Amino acid sequence: MTNKLKYFIGNWKMFGDYSSIKIIYRINSFCSKFKNRGKKYRIAFCVPNTLIYFFAKKLKTKFISIGAQNCHHHQNYGPFTGSVSAYMLKKIGAKYIILGHSENRMKGETNRLISKKIKSALNQKMNIVFCIGETFKEKRKKKTFSVLRKQIKESINKKYNLSKIIIAYEPVWSIGTGKIPKLNELKKIFQFIKQECKKIYKTKKAPVTLYGGSVDDKNIGSFSSISDIDGFLVGGASRSSKKFIDIIKNYYK
Ligand code: PGA
Repeated sequence: MTNKLKYFIGNWKMFGDYSSIKIIYRINSFCSKFKNRGKKYRIAFCVPNTLIYFFAKKLKTKFISIGAQNCHHHQNYGPFTGSVSAYMLKKIGAKYIILGHSENRMKGETNRLISKKIKSALNQKMNIVFCIGETFKEKRKKKTFSVLRKQIKESINKKYNLSKIIIAYEPVWSIGTGKIPKLNELKKIFQFIKQECKKIYKTKKAPVTLYGGSVDDKNIGSFSSISDIDGFLVGGASRSSKKFIDIIKNYYK
C-alpha cells in the first residue's frame, strides 16, 4: 500500500449541530493512534457555516482541519443578503472550501461564477476543493472528457495558484446514489484529469485529485488500486465516525 499523502475530506452538507463535534472527536482520537503506522494522510471536515467557528475553536488538533462548503464570489463585505465571503469564512477558522459542487451547479452556478469564487478563496490562502463531474446524460452521450475539460478550463484561470487547488472528480450520477464508476473507467478519467491539467497549465505537477460519490467503508478498498486517486471527498459516510474511521482503516488494509 502506498505511502503517498492521501486526503480524506468530509462534506457534511446540511447536517449537524454543536453536539456533532463528538463525531470529529472520535475520529481525532483514532488518528492519534493510527499516525504511527507510517501512513501520511490529511483530514478535513467541510461543515455548515453555523458550526465552523465553534468546531475550529474546540478542535485543538493537528490532524483535522475545518472547512466550508461554498462562498459568495465577492471579496470581503458587500450588499449580498444571506451570503458570506471566503474572507469571512477564513476569519472564523475555515482552512478548506468546497467550490463548484454539483448541488450548487444545479442551482445555477456557472464555471465563470465558480472561477470568481476560486479567486476570492485563493486570495484568502484557503485550500480549495474544486468539484467537477458529468451528469448521467453526459456520460451516456460519451461527453465525460469534454465536460471535465470545459469545467477545468473555464474555472481555473492560468494565473491561479494550482498548488492550492484540489480537484474532486464527482460524477453527478454517483452522488448519494450508491453507484460508483467502473474501476477501469475511473482510472482513465484520473489519468485524463492529470494529463489535461499539466497540458493546460504547463506544469509538471498535476493537482491533487480526489474521487467523490458514494464512497463508503465497504467500497473504499476497491479504489486503492488506482494510484492517481489522491484521496476522497466523502458525503453521507462522513457523518458517522465509525464509517469514516473504517474508510481510512479499510483503505490502508
Ligand atoms: P456522497 O456525497 O458521498 O453522499 O455520495 C459526496 C458529495 O456530494 O461530495
